[in-house]
Amino acid sequence: MFPAVPDAARTEAEMPLAHPLVDRAFIGALVRHFYTRVRSDPRLGPIFASEIQGDWEPHLEKMTDFWCSVILKNGAYSGRPVPAHLKLKQVKEEDFDLWLSHFRTVAAERCPPEVAAVFVDRAERIARSLKLAMFFRLERPATGTAG
Ligand code: HEM
Repeated sequence: MFPAVPDAARTEAEMPLAHPLVDRAFIGALVRHFYTRVRSDPRLGPIFASEIQGDWEPHLEKMTDFWCSVILKNGAYSGRPVPAHLKLKQVKEEDFDLWLSHFRTVAAERCPPEVAAVFVDRAERIARSLKLAMFFRLERPATGTAG
């Protein structure tokens, strides 16, 4: 068995956010606001539309689970974001900047500043790791005899 990690040894990103405003209902409303916005973006909207046809509710519930896990650490989400994004061949690295700019706007509109800062910090970290998984390639060392 692993020893329990004392709170003081955990990084801030591993700790649940305890704020009276932030519960599943709050997170669900934030998620819905964000995806309404993203779906109307001329670049990101068509990417989502080509992957999610028909009923958006299951995706919105999944994303609410995801953000509850990230923010409240309640284990609501057990999916695998990396493979879900690796298959999105239309997505370019710079699309993440657009995604994050919508996320920052929505967080600022709906959350007190200290709560928005936590959501945005987590989104930036996860965006960075998704981008690494999708776009980072080690340069191959030159082979052959040239040079
Ligand atoms: C350009 C940026 C992004 C695009 C275009 C994008 C697009 C998508 C699409 C189309 C899906 C649905 C895939 C499917 O259901 O098969 C998806 C799923 C998902 N996305 Fe993103 N995404 C982006 C960035 C992010 C970021 C930054 C996060 C987290 C902070 C995130 C978290 C997730 C999660 C958790 C899922 C569900 C994966 C699963 O369990 O099926 N995405 N995304």
